[in-house]
Amino acid sequence: MTTDTATQSWLARLPKAELHLHIEGTLEPAMMFELAARNGVKLPYADVEAVRAAYKFDDLQSFLDLYYQGMNVLRTRADFHDLALAYFRRAHADGVAHIDVMFDPQGHLKRGITLQTLMDGLLQAMMDAQAEFGLSTSLILSFLRDLPAEDAMAVLEQAAPWYDRVAAVGLDSAERGNPPGKFAAVFARAKAIGLARTAHAGEEGPPAYIDEALDTLDVCRIDHGVRCIEDAALVARLRAAQIPLTVCPLSNVALRVVDKLVDHQLPAMLDAGLNVTLNSDDPAYFGGGMLANFRACADAFGWNRDTFRKLSANAVKAAFMPEDRRKKLLNEIRKHD
Ligand code: ADE
Ligand code: ZN
Repeated sequence: MTTDTATQSWLARLPKAELHLHIEGTLEPAMMFELAARNGVKLPYADVEAVRAAYKFDDLQSFLDLYYQGMNVLRTRADFHDLALAYFRRAHADGVAHIDVMFDPQGHLKRGITLQTLMDGLLQAMMDAQAEFGLSTSLILSFLRDLPAEDAMAVLEQAAPWYDRVAAVGLDSAERGNPPGKFAAVFARAKAIGLARTAHAGEEGPPAYIDEALDTLDVCRIDHGVRCIEDAALVARLRAAQIPLTVCPLSNVALRVVDKLVDHQLPAMLDAGLNVTLNSDDPAYFGGGMLANFRACADAFGWNRDTFRKLSANAVKAAFMPEDRRKKLLNEIRKHD
């Protein structure tokens, strides 16, 4: 089914909040070349088309290999600023009003980039987006779960000067074989510091990792979580607690979590009364940003406007944003017709 143009335009204007977005995953091939030239970095691709041709993934790991390689062009404060502001502009054009921005410090520290460089660039872009087009943002400092927990703890301590500008910690990268419990002490420390917590779970990993993230990391939401549908007791738990699930439909297709969008768990998750939100994950790699995800779902599932209003409101309610902004956006969503 192809959504009519009136609905497409309605979706574009619907105020949206994005809760699951890796800023390093917004690096478009054109910017990759621009930054490579600026920094004298040699790329293993002849041109932009060659980069796009390489974006055919079999699973999460095949994507992560290119994602970490792509980061290599990010060197200076200006690079992080330009990357983030370019995405914020595109998101604003998609009708996104707020973004909880994940970033992976360990992907940069291991290349000799300092936390100061990274934070200066990101925080400046966040201020510019607020001033230029009213986009609100917050930060989620994410740990790479395929590295030792001690490394994550060291990064958390190193981030002390920025605790007041970080909303939460997160957990991402290769899920299988890296259960949430590995990071229990790190997340306990983050909680003691006063940071909120979220974790990727149930993307490729088993439903048990979702239970484990809730039990051992005390997370307030779950990133992806789509495999919950395989476990009825877990679905009941997620419904009862209304844990927000940051689902990324186009990502799940690109990484072969599902074969086709029409086969996605989303309709079953909504039917089960789960607290679902729609997000883009790594839009430069997976075929589009927030609006592309909303439109793809409209095409695949034929959802009505009430469903999209509900999904958008779910995201605003679960976002790390000031209460007055939340109230204003919820009001705008309610009135949007
Ligand atoms: N890092 C960036 N995107 C990710 C994803 N979809 N899953 C796990 N780690 C990631
Ligand atoms: Zn993700």
